[in-house]
Amino acid sequence: MTTTQRAVLIRTYGGASAAEVAQIAKPTAGQGQVLVRVHAAGVNGIDWKVREGLVQQAFPIQLPAVLGIELAGVVEAIGTGASRFHVGDRVMGPLGGLGAYADFVAVDEAKLVRTPRSLEDVQAAAIPVAAVAAWQSLHLAGPITAGQRVLIHGAAGGLGGYAVQYAKRAGAEVFATASTAHVDYVRSLGADHVIDYRTQGFESVAHDIDLVLDYVGGEVLDRSWQVLKKDGAIVGTSSPDILARTPAGRRGLWFVNTPDPALLERLVAEIAEGTLVSKLSEVVGFDEIPAAIERNRTSPRIGKVVADFSR
Ligand SMILES: NC(=O)c1ccc[n+]([C@@H]2O[C@H](COP(=O)([O-])OP(=O)(O)OC[C@H]3O[C@@H](n4cnc5c(N)ncnc54)[C@H](OP(=O)(O)O)[C@@H]3O)[C@@H](O)[C@H]2O)c1
Repeated sequence: MTTTQRAVLIRTYGGASAAEVAQIAKPTAGQGQVLVRVHAAGVNGIDWKVREGLVQQAFPIQLPAVLGIELAGVVEAIGTGASRFHVGDRVMGPLGGLGAYADFVAVDEAKLVRTPRSLEDVQAAAIPVAAVAAWQSLHLAGPITAGQRVLIHGAAGGLGGYAVQYAKRAGAEVFATASTAHVDYVRSLGADHVIDYRTQGFESVAHDIDLVLDYVGGEVLDRSWQVLKKDGAIVGTSSPDILARTPAGRRGLWFVNTPDPALLERLVAEIAEGTLVSKLSEVVGFDEIPAAIERNRTSPRIGKVVADFSR
């Protein structure tokens, strides 16, 4: 039996070359954990930020660190006290931390759900973080009521695609920003007003907004206060310093994604039934993960990029 495995890791924070494919020790399942043989892992916007050390405060890690935050695969072994799954079960989930870009990962069984038969592993690996984070961030500031005006920045991305659909279903009037090539895709998800931010400032279209979901951050966040109602809120996933950037008397909230298997199970069932769109735009091989992480930084795709470990 081999005791080492492939992994994509960083030894120091840095640019594209900081992420490398290397051999590391194969883990064993601990108390309450299962050992998952990973078949596919989602490539996320946060990967390059972790690689560059931009989110050290919000996402503290120890180096060297294996990157990757969500996976789909098969249960290979069961740890002491774990009882929800059997060897051979297909599972998927977020790690609530790092380590998914490795052939085997020991995961708390409580974080995982079963992968529906109708979903392939590459489809499943695209779902756990983005689908749940979009739901949680949409509801963080309070319930969404019909007729509210919601502005979603980064609507073409992993979180954005889900958030547009959730907000629309809740009866909101949805404003969404995307680059020129992604406008039609975002409109197809149900957004009422899609703003091509490359040709038009969102301030000229959106106003009296009840809730801004800021999946972009930086100056996009700073410009968003002027389109927000006085009692509206901005929920940010990208600028950890959102509280410091919130003007006096306004409501800015920093979002932190928390694994929620019951919610994930419900959303996965909807995707399997075809009532919720989960957009997979690119599948890469294991050795291509470092390049795919960098491409996510330089030229974002619509929806999700997933690594297929069998390639
Ligand atoms: N705090 C947490 O717990 C948490 C959890 C998950 C994700 N996140 C963060 O949330 C953000 C979104 O994640 P993701 O996985 O959805 O990222 P993603 O898939 O890379 O999507 C980001 C999207 O932003 C769009 N974009 C870039 N510049 C823009 C601008 N100026 N205006 C409007 N849209 C713009 C891009 O689309 P176009 O090509 O159309 O521009 C891209 O599709 C990332 O910053 C990620 O790190 C945080």
